[in-house]
Amino acid sequence: MITMIAAAAENNALGKDNDLVWHLPDDFRRFKELTIGHHIIMGRKTFESFPKLLSNRVHVVITRNEYYKPEGVVVVHSMDEALKIAKDDPQPFIIGGGEIYKIGMDYTDCIELTRVHGSFEADAFFPEIDPEIWTIEKEELHTADERHKYAFTYFTYKKK
Ligand SMILES: NC(=O)c1ccc[n+]([C@@H]2O[C@H](COP(=O)([O-])OP(=O)(O)OC[C@H]3O[C@@H](n4cnc5c(N)ncnc54)[C@H](OP(=O)(O)O)[C@@H]3O)[C@@H](O)[C@H]2O)c1
Repeated sequence: MITMIAAAAENNALGKDNDLVWHLPDDFRRFKELTIGHHIIMGRKTFESFPKLLSNRVHVVITRNEYYKPEGVVVVHSMDEALKIAKDDPQPFIIGGGEIYKIGMDYTDCIELTRVHGSFEADAFFPEIDPEIWTIEKEELHTADERHKYAFTYFTYKKK
């Protein structure tokens, strides 16, 4: 099962200046719980937005640059190649950003989407989720609190 995992605002904002625009620790924790032990497929810009490698996950980084070879990651040049690398993983995750989610939509069986309740200025956006194609299997609201400035809802979408 190929899964996309993202946190997107109500206007589909994902991030700005190659960074996130919110800090939601419980969402980070859930991201870690879901992805740990799996392949995480990402665009070169998302990879470069991390301060360091994420523990216990195989990083598969998509770039057009044939000379790009950072340490500790598998570099590929297409989504097909990324998924070939992850073929023995029962649940590889596509973790962004905007360009890679757009490509990933057609390959994906499940979307774990954290919808952040607000609208944000951004330069990277999550693609529209077509209700003709996707159905909501689960949803769970997380209210705002002293650690979370914004309320958000975890949605699990499955392809119809
Ligand atoms: N909220 C969230 O859940 C979430 C998750 C992830 C990221 N983000 C945010 O999203 C932003 C980054 O997203 P982004 O859309 O700017 O960049 P991105 O999708 O992370 O990476 C884009 C790069 O991927 C490579 N690429 C794209 N299409 C390709 C193709 N068809 N073949 C080969 N390589 C391809 C290119 O790398 P080269 O230029 O090296 O060729 C391109 O510059 C940041 O702000 C980040 O914080 C948010």
